[in-house]
Amino acid sequence: MSSRKPRSRWSLAKVTFVALDVVMWSLLFVSLGVAAQNSPATSQADANSARQQQERQITQPLNNQPVWSEVRSGAPQTTQVRGRETNVLIQPEGQTWRAMRNSMVSVYAGWALVIVFLAIAAFYAWKGPMRLHEPLTGRTIRRFTNWQMAIHWTTAWTFVAMAITGLIITFGKNILLPLIGYTLFSWLTILSKNLHNFLGPLFIVCLVLIFVTFVRDNIWRKYDWNWVRHAGGLISKQDVPSGKFNAGEKGWFWGGVLVAGIIVSVTGLILDFPNFNQTRGTMQIANLVHLSIAALFMLAALGHIYMGTLGQIGAYRAMSTGYVDETWAKEHHLYWYNDIKAGKIPTAPDDQPPVPAARPV
Ligand code: HEM
Repeated sequence: MSSRKPRSRWSLAKVTFVALDVVMWSLLFVSLGVAAQNSPATSQADANSARQQQERQITQPLNNQPVWSEVRSGAPQTTQVRGRETNVLIQPEGQTWRAMRNSMVSVYAGWALVIVFLAIAAFYAWKGPMRLHEPLTGRTIRRFTNWQMAIHWTTAWTFVAMAITGLIITFGKNILLPLIGYTLFSWLTILSKNLHNFLGPLFIVCLVLIFVTFVRDNIWRKYDWNWVRHAGGLISKQDVPSGKFNAGEKGWFWGGVLVAGIIVSVTGLILDFPNFNQTRGTMQIANLVHLSIAALFMLAALGHIYMGTLGQIGAYRAMSTGYVDETWAKEHHLYWYNDIKAGKIPTAPDDQPPVPAARPV
């Protein structure tokens, strides 16, 4: 029988360790208890909605209405994704933007373009073009330099491309898609969107250059009010004297080229370069303003293009050859013609051999 004292199984260290263990576990359980008390799952309201959600999954599987109404509220949620507005899954104003764009702005803009186009066609059918009263002299005056014509036509054709691609982006789905089908329509829209995005900055450069090029001759003069009063003689067919550009052209210059030009350019850049941390709200407002002002710009351009092609005999020739007959200058831009004849102002410098006079019309 050994004399060694049987070793007590509970040495001080062991007791301490077990005691510490017990304390630690009870502390853990207590804190878990406390945490459980404070966790949302146990707040009454949350518990109720969690239960309702569970019941709903049984009665209406996948119906997460509470989740979606919270998401649709637009209230910021929690997300790991960094960046502006990343914690807003659905922005409610987006619905308003879509409704305004699809059922108001684009519809009114579309009909306004159709109505103005038809009104111009009806006016042409009723009154015909503005013709000269006197015969041509055969003597020509240089009206535009090569640079003025080049910047004009670069701006003109970029504008026309922007207008057509913009119309396809806005109305294509409702008008073209039913006519040409999905394949062709998707190609056309992708092409239009890219053309619009890439030609946009070029158009802005053109606007700046055409503004600088023509601003000097677009200063408003007293006699321009007289032109406005007589609507430029469009109805009476009696010519109203004007300077190098008449009040209608000056209105197109300041209202179209400058004001509408600035607004479509700024909003266009906001839309074209969405990488400056713009909010969805900013993009929506820029889109609505861009669409509305671009529509007004196109409406005004219809008038300018009509006068620059069918509406006034000899006008197109002025901007395509740079030369006008003296009779044309006298009847349509009398004060400009007088100043040239008096030697007060020079004609546009002859940077190309004179073009033979126009055939009588
Ligand atoms: C295809 C479309 C266009 C045609 C056929 C056209 C035609 C003309 C014609 C014939 C003139 C000369 C008028 C005159 O001698 O008094 C003219 C002048 C002018 N056009 Fe155009 N144009 C077009 C598009 C544009 C566009 C898109 C812009 C600018 C956004 C523009 C800006 C101007 C300016 C600034 C003048 C000088 C008159 C002024 O400053 O008021 N044109 N255009």
